[in-house]
Amino acid sequence: MEKYVIKGGSKLFGEVTISGAKNAVVAILPATILADEPCVIENIPNISDVTITLQIMSEMGANIRMRNKNTVEIDTRPLRNMPIPYEKAKLMRATTYFLGTLLGRFHSARVSMPGGCNLGDRPIDQHLKCFTALGAECGIDGGMVDLKADRLIGNQIFFDKNSVGATINGIMAAVKAEGLTIIENAAKEPHVVDLANCLNSMGADIIGAGTDVIKIRGVKELHGTTYSVIPDQIEAGTFMAAAAATRGNVLIKNVIPKHLEPITNKFLKIGVQVEQYDDSIRVIGGENYVGTSIKTHPHPGFPTDMQPQMSAVLTCAKGASMVTESIFDNRFRYVDELRRMGANISVEGRVAVIEGVERLKGAPVRSTDLRAGAALIVAALGAEGTSEIYDIFHVERGYENMEVKLRGLGANIIKVEEPDPVSDSAAAKKAV
Ligand code: UD1
Repeated sequence: MEKYVIKGGSKLFGEVTISGAKNAVVAILPATILADEPCVIENIPNISDVTITLQIMSEMGANIRMRNKNTVEIDTRPLRNMPIPYEKAKLMRATTYFLGTLLGRFHSARVSMPGGCNLGDRPIDQHLKCFTALGAECGIDGGMVDLKADRLIGNQIFFDKNSVGATINGIMAAVKAEGLTIIENAAKEPHVVDLANCLNSMGADIIGAGTDVIKIRGVKELHGTTYSVIPDQIEAGTFMAAAAATRGNVLIKNVIPKHLEPITNKFLKIGVQVEQYDDSIRVIGGENYVGTSIKTHPHPGFPTDMQPQMSAVLTCAKGASMVTESIFDNRFRYVDELRRMGANISVEGRVAVIEGVERLKGAPVRSTDLRAGAALIVAALGAEGTSEIYDIFHVERGYENMEVKLRGLGANIIKVEEPDPVSDSAAAKKAV
């Protein structure tokens, strides 16, 4: 077990380069299963969700070769259709994408119900609705989702809930189906568009990604591609928050400023300066911020994945802020940890009210999920004194070399090995 030790108070200065988008790459890698030739995927982030995805594909028989640490060559022609067990699926939500892609290629799939961040209820009914509409029989047996179809035939699907995962799975399952599939009330997130662009570069016929209605005309074959994953919107937003919380001045490179607009607008509103360039942004912190209201929404609204990091900045903004979470019902688990650092936050259901304090104080805290961990890092960087952040495996699921990048900006952060209390006590008992 490892933890971060952060001595707060250093203003972040310099330049940082953003890695490829986690939420895009965890869809794009399984999508190569649909290709009839090898694919090269560039700008993949070196994070544990990618390691797990590639491991699953390798165990299924794909030939995987890293050309360098951010480029992978994948030949899925030898891949066999195998069940994906709970041990793998519990590690990340995106194992659900194997449902769509295996169904699309083999017309059957068996994948354990997914894990991922504990953000409250995360059903997959919309995914199943889509597979059923395309002609698959869906069942759940012993915690495994079973899909089987004689033929996949295009259909019109209206999502009752705007879902990134169901939209991506729908695209994957429909791309080689017979005829036209129309997905209505589709998710518009940048990673949905990136997946569609990648599949189109393999010869798919997908139009409308990035709007409410996506039309997919099935094709018989998909060829290989060389495709570069978009930069990570949320990693960029997290560095914006870190620059703001430390009152620093940071040039954030390899970003798509348009994807950051909902985040940028909130930072501007509280008094952070943001300068936009073609593929970079500069964030200049101020001495005093003012509280604001935030409500999370599907893209192009304020992303739920930035809600905790933004709240961390608001803990020291003047006056009251109101943060409303409209996507997930349990996304304030980090609040208790911020309170340990002196934040004044009350939570009622899906609304958090933050009364700004002068300064947070370092404390031992625990990451409860990926973005919660990121929020605690932001808070600790701006706090007075030293914080220890436990359970950082959550953070490493989605951030490439977080502490190295932060150190490059002047942060006082190290990663240290933390003895496992369970094995330690077992060892102590044995010794007695
Ligand atoms: C994806 C992102 C995650 C982000 C979330 C919302 C990936 C790998 N993960 O998660 O980082 O926080 O989008 O932007 O891209 N829902 C249903 N039924 C379904 C599916 C979803 O009711 O079948 C609900 C969920 O409970 C949630 C909402 O729809 O309330 C949005 O979830 P969804 O967009 O599906 O999130 P994920 O794809 O799991």
